[in-house]
Amino acid sequence: VMPVVGIDDLAIYVPKLYLDYKDFAEARGIDPQKLEYGIGIKKMAIADTNQDSACMAANACLKLMQKNHLHPEDIGRVYVATESSLDESKAMNSFVIGMLEQIYGEGSFEHAGGIECKFACVSGSYALYDNANWIRAEENNGKAAIVIVSDIAKYDMGSTGEYTQGAGAVALLIRENPRLMAYDPKVPSTTIKNEYDFYRPFGKETPLVNGSYSNLLYLISVRKAFDLYKEKAIKTGLIKLKDGESITDHIDYFAVHLPYRKMGEKALAYLLRHEWRHLPRWKHVIKEIGMQEPQPKDPRGTIESILADTEFMKADEQFRRAFMQTSFYNEVYEKKMASSLEASAIIGNLYTASMYMGLRSLLEFEFKKGIDLEGKRIGFGSYGSGSSAMVFSGIIQPQYKEVVSKMNLDEDIGPRQKLSMEEYERLHRNERTFKDSVIRAHKEFVLVRLGGNTADKAGFR
Ligand code: CAA
Repeated sequence: VMPVVGIDDLAIYVPKLYLDYKDFAEARGIDPQKLEYGIGIKKMAIADTNQDSACMAANACLKLMQKNHLHPEDIGRVYVATESSLDESKAMNSFVIGMLEQIYGEGSFEHAGGIECKFACVSGSYALYDNANWIRAEENNGKAAIVIVSDIAKYDMGSTGEYTQGAGAVALLIRENPRLMAYDPKVPSTTIKNEYDFYRPFGKETPLVNGSYSNLLYLISVRKAFDLYKEKAIKTGLIKLKDGESITDHIDYFAVHLPYRKMGEKALAYLLRHEWRHLPRWKHVIKEIGMQEPQPKDPRGTIESILADTEFMKADEQFRRAFMQTSFYNEVYEKKMASSLEASAIIGNLYTASMYMGLRSLLEFEFKKGIDLEGKRIGFGSYGSGSSAMVFSGIIQPQYKEVVSKMNLDEDIGPRQKLSMEEYERLHRNERTFKDSVIRAHKEFVLVRLGGNTADKAGFR
């Protein structure tokens, strides 16, 4: 029998500084309603000068280990997935281990292994799955794996990406007989294509972004991976479809990549349209909307040609908005997605960590509604620009309450300090050094010195 493997627990680290959407909207001359409803952001977490993605990763990992009473000898692998890399060669997990060994002792992780993974925002999902398979293959000698997803999403000042910034890390514990969620085996599905929707050339601090192209590519890529997932789920007997049913009826929750809250809502709308279009229920949806679904001039055309078909794009936008107003969409949205978006609205984009912060948000806020989550299936839509999508699913395990009942997002984020626009812009321009941080460290890893051996830059303060 194949061991049951999945996510046993997770811990988060969010920087203690944030930017409020109202201050931001006023400074940039944007309607605050656009940010609150059009994007879905209220607070964006901003990293202080004494924190980088490795410090955040180490902080999340330390929390995960402490709350589970884990020692380095219990861990066989430490992976870090990020797109905020510090070195072209030295992997971020080595920095993280360097920091953890300040607590657990020099060489305490020497028996373990791991690498840094990169593929924009999707690499954490690959890292998790590959580690789950390492345990399934029983090469783990009874040890667990930790995968840390950590990123700082920083865009050019004044750009449309600026209101989709954020920073933070999630550390996830992978092991046999997990308490939170067991992966559904044999169904993960991926797509990959050479694309330039969002990328960050060497040495450049902020990405080059093709905004509308990236949005559409995300939707199409996740949909294609979802089609492949569906094929496998039916073929392996994981999901049995009756007449008139959609595979979305067999997924109790959706957790997708969240560059911003609204993107989750749009991704759900896109998937439901795609899945329901050929089912009997669609005629009821169309009746409620009161218009036919528009067709692009060239349905098999490239993403560029679809985006250039302005007549279709306009009609499709109108149709999508109307669909998102229907009782059909809203029922699924409220029941299966809304809880996963709560954290995104008060933290912002975390790139690799976004979907996993969403998973945590989903578990905590559904539990707080008093819903029994045992046996419920979560479907994941992970997306990384460049581009690759990964769709997979998992089942919430009987022992989930032990972990989820202790979750408290506000407490876990901790007290935060609001930045003025002036302070934020100074931070954005890198005008303050690590010694001149906005707030002082509070029992966490921070940068304490510069230069020389970069692995030794951080300390626990
Ligand atoms: N009140 C309410 N809503 C308003 C409004 C108002 N006054 N004014 C505008 N809006 C709405 C718009 O109608 C729109 O809503 P819909 O999506 O429902 O149409 C929404 O606000 C956004 O406005 P725009 O369409 O004008 O978009 P924008 O120019 O603000 O750009 C963006 C949005 C393209 C996402 C941009 O922020 C961006 O480039 N972000 C970075 C790239 C990104 O996140 N891409 C996502 C996919 S790629 C990915 O996922 C990888 C990753 O993590 C980067």
